[in-house]
Amino acid sequence: MAYINDNFTKIQHRYLFAEIAKRVAAYKEANPAAKIISLGIGDVTQPLAQVVTNAMHKAVDDCASVSSFHGYGPEQGYDFLREKIIANDYAKRGITLSTDEVFISDGAKSDLGNIGDILSVNNTIGVTDPVYPVYVDTNSMAGRQIRYIPCTAENGFTGDIPSEKIDVMYLCFPNNPTGAVITRQGLKQWVDYALKNDTLILYDSAYEAFITDPAIPHSIYEIDGAKECAIEFRSFSKTAGFTGIRCGYTVIPNELNIQSESGNRVALNPVWNRRQCSKFNGASYISQRGAESIFSPEGQQQIHSIIRYYLTNAGIIRQSLQKSGLTVFGGENAPYIWVKTPEHDSWKFFDHLLHHAQVVVTPGAGFGPSGEGYIRITAFGTKESTKEAIERIEGCL
Ligand code: MLT
Repeated sequence: MAYINDNFTKIQHRYLFAEIAKRVAAYKEANPAAKIISLGIGDVTQPLAQVVTNAMHKAVDDCASVSSFHGYGPEQGYDFLREKIIANDYAKRGITLSTDEVFISDGAKSDLGNIGDILSVNNTIGVTDPVYPVYVDTNSMAGRQIRYIPCTAENGFTGDIPSEKIDVMYLCFPNNPTGAVITRQGLKQWVDYALKNDTLILYDSAYEAFITDPAIPHSIYEIDGAKECAIEFRSFSKTAGFTGIRCGYTVIPNELNIQSESGNRVALNPVWNRRQCSKFNGASYISQRGAESIFSPEGQQQIHSIIRYYLTNAGIIRQSLQKSGLTVFGGENAPYIWVKTPEHDSWKFFDHLLHHAQVVVTPGAGFGPSGEGYIRITAFGTKESTKEAIERIEGCL
């Protein structure tokens, strides 16, 4: 007899963004003429940078002749991309990495969940709350216990360092959903906590390209000791508009080791490599060539101009809603704006905005208990749709 993994029957019925899509579809069906604007899921709207499309066209052409055709690539990713990542994203910030410490993926979301394959199901998982649902869902699917660490306006949405021991701690800065950032000092406190308690930090820095304040760290490895306690996840999705192309990477330093259940210390890098070789065939050659192209001076200039476009939207959302009397957070070093709702129930406010403004946002409660009383608005719309959406929201407050 086949048995299901019962953990799946216990988790929330739908993934947050699937639940939102369902409600929007039902509204659309009942109101076919409605012109809905979505500032809900953080999906990009601007086309890929020219360097990226050129590089991907060229990569397709490579595959059109026997001499430059690419079949299965290395499971860890091509060195041409790993080397560029190290030189641009790390060496420039004084962080030394070798190519074998960088694993190219098909995006941060997959690896943030898949990393659980190499971790015991007995680990307790800490998440800052509100939280990107992937951390909670994937660990609940494996049967792990989750500890929510409240992130509130009072603690700057960075969470207080826990007094108890947590085995594995997810951190995400700039934060999804609150748009909060963490200072070097704040991040050092988490690293010190991890080193003291033998905690593994899973650091999601998918939104680091949106940091404008030079004092804010882009990588956890800017903090001394982090290579001994942290894995870092990054993505080209928001940095370079790859939500549909798919490419990201995961850094597992060689010195990072944790306890095995039989008591000895085990380095995680070779274990993850083993997992990837058996379960992953690598990101496509075409998407990796596209990702590589953003590291040229021209590529950097092009992607930063798109990032500035989204940050301008974020500014419009922040300032307009503030002027309307709402309390807003985030949106300065992040593409998300976290807005205190006039009425406490964030799903109710979500429905109100959908029905009266035809604008889709994300209800804070969908991100965890501390998200209640807030909504998240994404800056990834077009400038025109963002302006119109905000006007419509203001009109129905
Ligand atoms: C979000 O809206 O939180 C993100 O776009 C979802 C994701 O990156 O998977």
